[in-house]
Amino acid sequence: MSQYLLAIDQGTTSSRAILFNTSGVRIGQAQQEFPQIFPNDGWVEHDPNDLWQSTLSVCRDVLKDTDITADAVASIGITNQRETTILWDTETGKPVYNAIVWQDRRTSEFCQSLVDRGHSETVQAKTGLLIDPYFSATKIRWILENVEGVKERAKEGHIAFGTVDSFLLWHLTSGRYHRTDATNAARTMAFNIHSQQWDEELIELLGIGDVIFPQVMDSSDDFGVIDKQWLGAEIPVNGIAGDQQAALVGQACFTPGMVKSTYGTGCFMILNTGEQALKSEHKMLTTVGYRINGKVTYALEGSIFVAGAAIQWLRDGLKLFADASETQSLAQKALNADTVYLVPAFTGLGAPYWDPDARGAMIGLTRDTSASDIISAGLRSVCYQTKDLVGAMAQDGAEFDTLRVDGGMVVNDLVVQFLSDLLGITVERPKVTETTALGVAYLAGLRIGIYESLEQISELWQSEHCFTPDMDDGNRQTLYDGWLDAVRRVRSSL
Ligand code: G3P
Repeated sequence: MSQYLLAIDQGTTSSRAILFNTSGVRIGQAQQEFPQIFPNDGWVEHDPNDLWQSTLSVCRDVLKDTDITADAVASIGITNQRETTILWDTETGKPVYNAIVWQDRRTSEFCQSLVDRGHSETVQAKTGLLIDPYFSATKIRWILENVEGVKERAKEGHIAFGTVDSFLLWHLTSGRYHRTDATNAARTMAFNIHSQQWDEELIELLGIGDVIFPQVMDSSDDFGVIDKQWLGAEIPVNGIAGDQQAALVGQACFTPGMVKSTYGTGCFMILNTGEQALKSEHKMLTTVGYRINGKVTYALEGSIFVAGAAIQWLRDGLKLFADASETQSLAQKALNADTVYLVPAFTGLGAPYWDPDARGAMIGLTRDTSASDIISAGLRSVCYQTKDLVGAMAQDGAEFDTLRVDGGMVVNDLVVQFLSDLLGITVERPKVTETTALGVAYLAGLRIGIYESLEQISELWQSEHCFTPDMDDGNRQTLYDGWLDAVRRVRSSL
């Protein structure tokens, strides 16, 4: 009997496959990193073939390691780094260019020209997004404009666009299905989140009308059955969601007002706003939280581009430690933690600043600044950036007294306690911190009846630790003022 759910989590730095049983317990996991390509200042690419091959091999590995055969897998869910853009030739299946990664800033000038021509309001009204190179649409345009022969091929009707989920589905089903879900579509800047349709007016404005856009489905849906040649059985794909939205589901934030923050490469805070697509006046994004049975649950999102990536830089770039697990004890030794700030604007600043041309800095260095101080500043930068988001959401009228956190960095108690101190609210860490994979497994299981409802999924959520604030208001404000001052110094313009 088919009794397992296989979650594919294709992230920014690695591909993972996680096998869950129907109680949401992890049975096995396989992970593979792949190269990051940085061809130019602010450019970030992946080889699409690496994304596909690493995904395939981790799926095979997890089945092999757990000794579970593919026909025992009831369903597959795919969750993915969002916005990353791939164009491929539908006749050969070959990508026409590398995947342009969400962090890539190469279209910042074009985005500025859209702003200058007065398109910001229309874009925000239709897509819920702010004009920024982060989203897929201008990346599609860049490939069409800059890669020889692609425009012509697109005119002939042979070029497909997809976010990573869509590209993987296309391959897993051997080219049978070109589909995506509403959460991924909502990150392209070409999708109208109110009508739930690709927006012809925006597509024309951006000059990307000749590519084939994927069919947009619910997040819990029948996406197609994978070809037997890949894993040895025909397994249906029943869940697709962008990784941050999948984490919203994995954290069981199903009621308006519930909020989660995921600390991966970047940090993404998502607040469930229910049936209401709340328009932000403070530079948050309005997005699709999930779409189930045709019903859209909207969300407000704050996106920070560099969180775990700052720790990766301290490890690989500055070589201050060999493993992220050392950061807690090293940071505890910091004597100047309160006065050294690291602003990790390596690829510009995301919410709430949206400054693609800002670059990183360390502020407050003295002769006695130690490696521990810098590590502490790196960890704290993630908390300060979260406070920026909470502040912007509060200005938009969102009030909450608990934040659910997940992702690699939250195993660090020091970070989560500081986060709670700085925000002045309760921060809850769940038992399962693999919420992204779990969330998409839930979406797949929901479709095939393993779970009856979101309420049932809610009951599976368990808190592992609740962190409560232990810092006085004055201290909190002084620390945050120091951060705001540091950010001011890296802005490209004010
Ligand atoms: O929007 C980008 C986001 O989906 C990337 O997530 O987990 O790779 O940082 P992650």
